[in-house]
Amino acid sequence: MHPIIDLRSDTVTRPTPEMRRAMAEAEVGDDVLGDDPTVQRLEEIAAAKVGKEAALFTPTGTMSNNIAIHVLTRPGDEILLDWDAHSMCYEVGAPAIISGVQTRPFRSHKGVPDPQDIADSIGAEDLHRPGTTLLVLENTHNRAGGAVIPLDVHRALYALAKEHGLSVHIDGARIFNAAVASGLPASEYAAQADTVCFSLSKGLGCPAGSMLCGTREFVVKARRIRKRLGGGMRQIGVLAACGIVALETGIDRLAEDHAHARRLATALDGLQGIRVEADSVQTNMVYFDTERPATEWVDRWKGRELLCLPVGAHRIRLVTHRDVDGEDVDAAIRIFRETATALS
Ligand SMILES: Cc1ncc(COP(=O)(O)O)c(C=O)c1O
Repeated sequence: MHPIIDLRSDTVTRPTPEMRRAMAEAEVGDDVLGDDPTVQRLEEIAAAKVGKEAALFTPTGTMSNNIAIHVLTRPGDEILLDWDAHSMCYEVGAPAIISGVQTRPFRSHKGVPDPQDIADSIGAEDLHRPGTTLLVLENTHNRAGGAVIPLDVHRALYALAKEHGLSVHIDGARIFNAAVASGLPASEYAAQADTVCFSLSKGLGCPAGSMLCGTREFVVKARRIRKRLGGGMRQIGVLAACGIVALETGIDRLAEDHAHARRLATALDGLQGIRVEADSVQTNMVYFDTERPATEWVDRWKGRELLCLPVGAHRIRLVTHRDVDGEDVDAAIRIFRETATALS
């Protein structure tokens, strides 16, 4: 049990003792000069985990997404992006500013795009249209409640994209959550895309880092764009060492987070003043609606050292992660029930 139950995000974890040890003992060198053996090892492990030829360590998922978009497009191109995708909502307009692309958003159904909608959105370059060159998919889908895009949908979308000459990038910040939830290896999803990135700093519990994966040729270009964006780092093996620990020991553990999220959702379901689709919880996130303003719930919980994120006037998000254990979940459920009684 932890003194504070922090359900705001899976980014709030502290490094484990094993990670701290790995950091202290990491063999390092200047990674911009290609001298850091620990980064090189992490990049090899990461590429193998998703079945790609090569990988690049970047500081953040945001940088990985925007390097991918930059390498896979030319200024003036059109890219297809979910209305609720991270790159659409939370990257401060980076695709437009960094890559000069026009975004054509599409709506998905609970995080899952309809291939027919995507087909209808693709436009060839002509006198009038910019030409669609990239489809970006997010799996799992954060704003759709951690939903998994099923593999058959990825297959249909990748085939469609190739038919029209588009590249596909997966923002797989939580691709291992999708893999664990579906029982399929992450490489099966990654095989349905040209490039994929995943976060070390979310469910895998590292202090920072994202891995951008693709062909060797893509990674050579990506490395150059990372440098241009100021993301070339030096003795970064200290962070890469955590990434190695996370990839070797942290993937299967994500199943615990999923079970905790399901328990939280089941407990919320049926509480007065709360509406939650408990059955739709697939991974480590629970989104739910409140009759009273979300802040009333959140503020009361904060007073009890239970933290979560209001994501709308009447909507709250909970995210489970490594630093929330079964006793924390029990305590959170007690607090939910007591608050529901107090507010009713
Ligand atoms: C789906 C998704 N993609 C990308 C990111 C960006 O990651 P970072 O915060 O490392 O830039 C996030 C962060 O929450 C995310 O949820």
